Amino acid sequence: MLKLVLPLPQYLASVRTAIAEYQAHPSPFDIHCVNQMIEAAKDNFATYFQDIECKRQGIGLLEGHVPNTTLWLIDDEKYVGSFDLRHELNAYLLQNGGHIAYQIIPSARRKGYVKAGLKLTLEYARKKLGIEKALLTCNFDNIGSYKAMSSVMHEWGGEEISPSLVDGHQEHRVWINTQPK
Ligand SMILES: CC(C)(COP(=O)(O)OP(=O)(O)OC[C@H]1O[C@@H](n2cnc3c(N)ncnc32)[C@H](O)[C@@H]1OP(=O)(O)O)[C@@H](O)C(=O)NCCC(=O)NCCS
Repeated sequence: MLKLVLPLPQYLASVRTAIAEYQAHPSPFDIHCVNQMIEAAKDNFATYFQDIECKRQGIGLLEGHVPNTTLWLIDDEKYVGSFDLRHELNAYLLQNGGHIAYQIIPSARRKGYVKAGLKLTLEYARKKLGIEKALLTCNFDNIGSYKAMSSVMHEWGGEEISPSLVDGHQEHRVWINTQPK
């Protein structure tokens, strides 16, 4: 069964396998919360769960950062990907980053996981944070990510807005309703 959960130590065995995969197949689009997880593995996740809980509660945030929930996509009790949900947008996230970022383990790609996980994250955003429309952005070169966000936008409703220019590259920007049509 597929589910979206707050990170829990009970999934660490499959997370360690996932980290080895991520490290063996890095991509230019790897996301912040996965890099944080990879860093955390170096000291055996000593402060990881506390750190992400502080980010969720908005405690001790870095300048310019907003509260953020990290979620794990679990299939058959094993970790298959991460979703990062920002609770609000600032000027930077409006251009680059948006509300939601995601990453699926390389061996589980092209099986529909990101589309399924994105829908669960949108539902979570509505139920837990009251977000009615979520902004998603991705680099023009990231075809898989753009296809996934466009597909869910067409299914659930939303709109594509003008791309933004960030550090010399263009970012697609898509708003998606957080509940099905
Ligand atoms: C981008 C990423 C999240 C896609 O995850 P995924 O689980 O493989 O995606 P899905 O299987 O749900 O596929 C979504 C759609 O994209 C297409 N797709 C996925 N990867 C693709 C690729 N590399 N090239 C072309 N199309 C691709 C699928 O065919 C599907 O199309 P459809 O809606 O027409 O059926 C995954 O490749 C990944 O983790 N990449 C590294 C991190 C990243 O890029 N994160 C996004 C940052 S914006």
